[in-house]
This record gives sequence, C-alpha cells and structure tokens, in this order.
Amino acid sequence: MKISRRNFIGSAVATAAAAPAIFNTPAHAELAIDDIDWGMGFPEGSTLLNRNENPIGPSVKAIEAAKMSIEKSFRYADRILIKKLLSEHHDIDEDHIMVGTGSGEILNLVSVAFLRKENANMVATWESYRPIPGYAEKMGAKVKWVNLKAEDNYEYDVGRLLGAVDDNTRALFMVTPNNPTGTVLSFEDMNRLLDGLPDQVTLIVDGAYADFQEDGKDGIDLIKAGHKNILVTRTFSKIYAMAGLRCGYGIAHPNIAKEISRYGCSPTSTNMAGFAAMAASIGDMDHVNKSRRFVSNARGYYKKEFAELGISVLAGPPIFILAETGANTNQIRDELRKQKIFVRAGEEWGMPNHMRVSYGLDHENEIFIKALKEILAT
Ligand SMILES: Cc1ncc(COP(=O)(O)O)c(C=O)c1O
Repeated sequence: MKISRRNFIGSAVATAAAAPAIFNTPAHAELAIDDIDWGMGFPEGSTLLNRNENPIGPSVKAIEAAKMSIEKSFRYADRILIKKLLSEHHDIDEDHIMVGTGSGEILNLVSVAFLRKENANMVATWESYRPIPGYAEKMGAKVKWVNLKAEDNYEYDVGRLLGAVDDNTRALFMVTPNNPTGTVLSFEDMNRLLDGLPDQVTLIVDGAYADFQEDGKDGIDLIKAGHKNILVTRTFSKIYAMAGLRCGYGIAHPNIAKEISRYGCSPTSTNMAGFAAMAASIGDMDHVNKSRRFVSNARGYYKKEFAELGISVLAGPPIFILAETGANTNQIRDELRKQKIFVRAGEEWGMPNHMRVSYGLDHENEIFIKALKEILAT
C-alpha cells in the first residue's frame, strides 16, 4: 500500500496515543533515563548556547511520527515520499530534489562531485561556516577565501566574491543568512552573483537559516527561473528543531542533482525516524511560525540587554546573535565555561572580538546575561 502523508500522520498520532510497546518496558525507561547522557557530554546543568540548536524542540506531530516510526525501522525509509512532499511544497519537479543526512551531507558532496579535478578550487567566505570549504580542502581542492569587512557591516560584497573566481574555480560556496554574522545576501545580489559566474562554476547557497526569513525570493526562485548552475540547501535541523534527526535537502537543476546523487543522498541515506518526522513537518507553518516567534522574542531580549551593556551586535534572522564583546572575548568565554555556560568565541571565524550566542529558552538567556554582567563587572 502506498502511504499518503495524511494517513501516515494520522496513524502516527493514533499509535503514539496508545504508546508503542517499546516505550513502556521498564528496561527501556531505565535505559532512557539513567544510562543515556542526554547532555551530549556537557556537564550536568549546562546552559548550551553554543551550537545553534533550536531549543523549542520538534513539533508534537513530528515527535509522534518519529516515535511511531521506530517500530517500522526494520525497513529502509521511503525517500520517494519525502521528495514528493518537498516537490509539492516548493512547487518544483521531483528530479530537482536531493534528500540528505542533514544538509551537510549534500554540501560535502559538492566537493566530491565537482572539485576532484586537478587544480580545482572553491571560493568561500572566511567569516562564515567553515566545515564545507574545510571538507573541500580535505578532498585536495584549494579554497580561495574572501573576507567580510567590518566597514561593510559584514555584508557580502558581490564584486569581491566574483573577483576571487578564476579559470579553475568550480564552486562558490556561500551561506545566507550567514553563520555567524546573520548577514543576508539580497535576491538582487544573488542574481547578480549568479549572472557574473562563468558556466563552469556552481553557486552553492547554504540556506540552513533561510526559513527564519519571513519572506522574499531566494535561490530556489532562481532555479525555478531555469538557472542551471546553482544548488540551494535547506535543513530540518534549525527551523523545525530536528538537528539530531539529520534531515536536510538540496534543490538544483536535475544535472546537478544527478551528479551529487552518484556519490550520496542514496535511497538509504534517510533514517526512519527522520523520514517520519520530515513527512510530518514539511510545510507545518504553525511550527515554522512558532520558531520565528521564538527567535524574534529572544533577539529582542538580547538586543536590549547588550545595548544596556554598550555592546554592539549583529542580529540577523537566524537563531543566534553575534556580540562585539571585545579583546577579552576568549577570557569571557572561559569564565562562562567555568559556570557551565557555553557560547562560541569568534576567533574560529576570524572575528576574535566577537562572541556568538545561540538563543536559548528564556531562563537560559537570563542565566547567560546575568553571568556576563557579573564577569564584565569584575
Ligand atoms: C550554515 C550551516 N550550514 C549547514 C549546517 C549543517 O546543517 P545540517 O544539520 O542540516 O547538516 C549548519 C549547522 O549548524 C550550519 O550552521
């Protein structure tokens, strides 16, 4: 029987209401509570504001569907359904869609698919998410780094990006909204960037945080308009708060989708719980809006608190804020760590005077701000 999304979610919720047997056994309950380190290696009582996780958690629908799926997990998940749902959601043909183990899988495959040629290089931004160009380097490709500048308020400069492209460039990787600066490349500038690229270069637009933007056209509209050398990725890790389920997807012209899929995004790349949670989440605007409201409230709180401290911030659409905490940023980070409060110091993005704070729940944000004020007062 072909499973429709409505049937799937309906039966998922019904089954979860009855609680699948596996969750009722005392042995399992003990294991879940006592033996598993749900702090993921961080000390008990930690305040984790360091990994851009969305603390509101997955929707009830996603949770119930994932729970139900465990009993079906002796089977491989049916990625075809996910492609169909994504195709309807984005109004684009299924042959344009790749489903990955997180968007990271697809982004890494860019290097495997396009950068193995001799002397091939990728153009990427230094003050940005580095694992993807880092993977390109590990694959033996050269990365040509472009800087964001304080005097431009860390906005992308299309001219500078294009200026780094040469005859050996095969991919230009960018993140919008950017991590960690939150800066956004406008649709007009993305268009300009794409128009300026030679045919042999694929523009890779990492949209891990794109769903936090309320509206506006993006790279997917350029693909729909017929552009053949752009790949856009999205993830369920952030807006849908499903980082641990490892679900992401990419959209591109079928030539790119086919090439990437030669090396990964295979029919078995998607885990069953992720499959179920994705099926229950695609287009769930209630949860999307809940995440957006969460971010907007947290952003408002941090902007006010940092302003009172005289600390300037970059606060874009995503789930974090970048604060200019100054030359002592590493020491402040270390002092916070002693209190089991974890944030990221900007040195890893070439911004040593900045600190990235992922938004937590209200009480976590308050713990951080209270501790920061005390540290700054000493
Ligand atoms: C900019 C950016 N791209 C990609 C990823 C990876 O996302 P996924 O969980 O979909 O692999 C992250 C994760 O933090 C990210 O910040």
